[in-house]
Amino acid sequence: MSEHILVERRGTTVWITLNRPEARNALSRAVNLRLAELANELEHDPTVRAVVIMGAGDKAFCAGADLKERKGIPAAESAPYINAISTAINEIAAIRKPTIAAMNGSAYGGGLELAMACDFRIAVEGCEVGLTEVRLGIMPGAGGTQRLPRLIGEARAKEMIMLGRRIPIARAYEIGLVHQVVPVGQLHAAVEGILTELSGCAPLSVIHAKSALERGANLPLDQGLEIEQQCYEVTLYSEDRDEGLAAFAAGRPPVYQGR
Ligand code: COA
Repeated sequence: MSEHILVERRGTTVWITLNRPEARNALSRAVNLRLAELANELEHDPTVRAVVIMGAGDKAFCAGADLKERKGIPAAESAPYINAISTAINEIAAIRKPTIAAMNGSAYGGGLELAMACDFRIAVEGCEVGLTEVRLGIMPGAGGTQRLPRLIGEARAKEMIMLGRRIPIARAYEIGLVHQVVPVGQLHAAVEGILTELSGCAPLSVIHAKSALERGANLPLDQGLEIEQQCYEVTLYSEDRDEGLAAFAAGRPPVYQGR
């Protein structure tokens, strides 16, 4: 089973590959359990600064829940399968470090929910995305109804979710669902581009800026501003803050330690 998720370390970044191309990288229960465990490990590994998730092959990033595995399982016994997928996706979302979905192909259902749990989504031209669950007699259950409207607004989210629409990736870019669409073959370079940008940023600053953005997003402004101050304070007393100022004064690139 471990070969269904590949893990590769490149410098301070860990690349996770969903490796079931023959099933369009669908999320089986075993894959979800491993993904959750991995997310937790990476969150707590201080040597890891960023996480990239991609799918194997060129057909799909991830086709969502493994529908074949679920077939034949009575609703009353399906809780462990459903819980595993939402737990995995929530654990990915809970990684405080920057996360990137490198969308090598289409993403549906849980596949799109997984991509939405990441901070950045970069996709190849020609693919499509959709929360197709209502067409399958269910509904999004791993964050889709909550994360999609927060990303693209309620009106567009209703259109996608209540109609189970699959939309071309160019449209997903127009409505702000993905950050970048690149020609097939340039996906790695585009992801490396983001990682290079991140490497010039202080890791603690990025983590706490992400935290302020996410924790404050749905609060009244005054409470959000309070959270921002708490996060800011952590960076204020960091060694990297001194390094940032020293490097600026010396006209040299900073060397951040994440402390
Ligand atoms: N779960 C399990 N198996 C899946 C799957 C899923 N979600 N999606 C695709 N597969 C399997 C297919 O059954 C097929 O298996 P087979 O070769 O044993 O017949 C294989 O992956 C390839 O799928 P196929 O449809 O032939 O490939 P394609 O490249 O033409 O299309 C998709 C790929 C993803 C567009 C299409 O399979 C699809 O629409 N899947 C369902 C996506 C979805 O609605 N997901 C939401 C789940 S809640």
